[in-house]
Amino acid sequence: MTDRAFLKSFAGLLVALVALTVVIFIVAQIIGGKTTKTVESTADTKAVAERIKPVGELTVGTAPVAKTTTASNAVMDAIIPSANAAGAEDKGKKIYDATCMACHAAGVAGAPKLGDKAAWAARIAQGADTLHTHAIKGFQGKAGMMPPKGGNMGLKDDDVKAAVDYMVSQAK
Ligand code: HEC
Repeated sequence: MTDRAFLKSFAGLLVALVALTVVIFIVAQIIGGKTTKTVESTADTKAVAERIKPVGELTVGTAPVAKTTTASNAVMDAIIPSANAAGAEDKGKKIYDATCMACHAAGVAGAPKLGDKAAWAARIAQGADTLHTHAIKGFQGKAGMMPPKGGNMGLKDDDVKAAVDYMVSQAK
């Protein structure tokens, strides 16, 4: 075999091998793609979940019972509305005692005193919303400076509102 003849057949062999590689690659893609699809099909996933699900389930308390509880809670609320109101006032008093008392008990720096009806009347007349906003955001009045949330930024807006409502309730 001459060098020329060898080169020719060797080149032919290379081309054939490359072609084979491509064919194998394509076939592998087709087979592999199909397999993944079958495994991922929702029908199969459902069937698998069905087969491996626990034999039984333990439910503590049942939905209907929970419903009855809510209903009876609503009834209880209707019968004794004062229970919740008292709870809110309690929270307000606690927050007042912890944060607001520092100024509002003795009337420090012009703060309207707790229970001082004359000092509170005009303020209450502004409406609860204004009082809430002034207490939460702070308020510069003629008498002095009410710091935002009484200076206790850890309080939630609702906490401050409860404290305001408590203070208002004491001045009526
Ligand atoms: C550092 C002192 C200080 C603390 C603490 C403080 N206040 Fe005041 N607060 C004032 C002063 C001073 C005023 C009066 C401002 C004015 O009218 O010039 C005031 C006024 C108010 C008013 C009336 C606002 C208005 O529109 O008339 C409310 C409501 C109020 N405070 C709520 C609170 C609440 C609730 C807290 C606690 C979370 C609190 N304050 C803590 C100083 C304080």
